[in-house]
Amino acid sequence: MVFESKHPLVKHKLALLRDMNTEPKQFRELVNELAVLIGYEAAADLPTREVDVHTPMGTAVEAQLDAKIGLIPILRAGLGMVDPIWDLIPNAEVWHIGMWRDEETLEPVWYYNKLEGTPRIGTAFILDPMLATGGSALATIDVVKQWGVARIKFLALIAAPEGIAAVHAAHPDVAIYTAAIDSHLNDIGYIVPGLGDAGDRQFGTITSSS
Ligand code: PRP
Ligand code: URA
Repeated sequence: MVFESKHPLVKHKLALLRDMNTEPKQFRELVNELAVLIGYEAAADLPTREVDVHTPMGTAVEAQLDAKIGLIPILRAGLGMVDPIWDLIPNAEVWHIGMWRDEETLEPVWYYNKLEGTPRIGTAFILDPMLATGGSALATIDVVKQWGVARIKFLALIAAPEGIAAVHAAHPDVAIYTAAIDSHLNDIGYIVPGLGDAGDRQFGTITSSS
């Protein structure tokens, strides 16, 4: 399943996010705001349990979340999506994964995996603004499944058709939520039109190769 938001607020913020003149401070704010809007959609089918709430006027039959969520950002760029979604789901746990993409092979290179012990979470939200070839997503989904979490959602801001196809081919059970599905990857593996390098644009580390 792929969910691509058509919401006017998402489209408006995405336009600002993509703009090459948007500076890192505003870029981070936009990542934050878009992550809330995508996180809200990804949470739409989480299970709830009925609770009675005593108001000053009577009893309301309400619903409480009945799911333990793990937020799994892929460092670096996924970090910017953690706090806003954590604010939405404050009892979530945060488990970190670190990898970069080799510029020549486009394969992910691991440098951090904090997934350890027996998982207490029932659902993992993997967070990464960019789903390009899908290499980083596939490597992360593999380790999350090996860790013992079967229910996985992948939250992106921009996804390429190539990355979506790769995730679906290997893991048809993983739902993808994104603010936009773009045209294609260019010959150096960047999403077109995309936004450039999401990590460098958040952290102000843009170089000639970004
Ligand atoms: C970017 C992005 C994803 C990956 C996507 O990270 O944040 O993790 O590339 O590409 P893929 O789908 O082809 O694997 P990058 O490797 O630039 O590292 P960074 O987050 O540290 O900038
Ligand atoms: N990683 C990014 O940050 N941007 C892309 O377009 C592709 C991979």
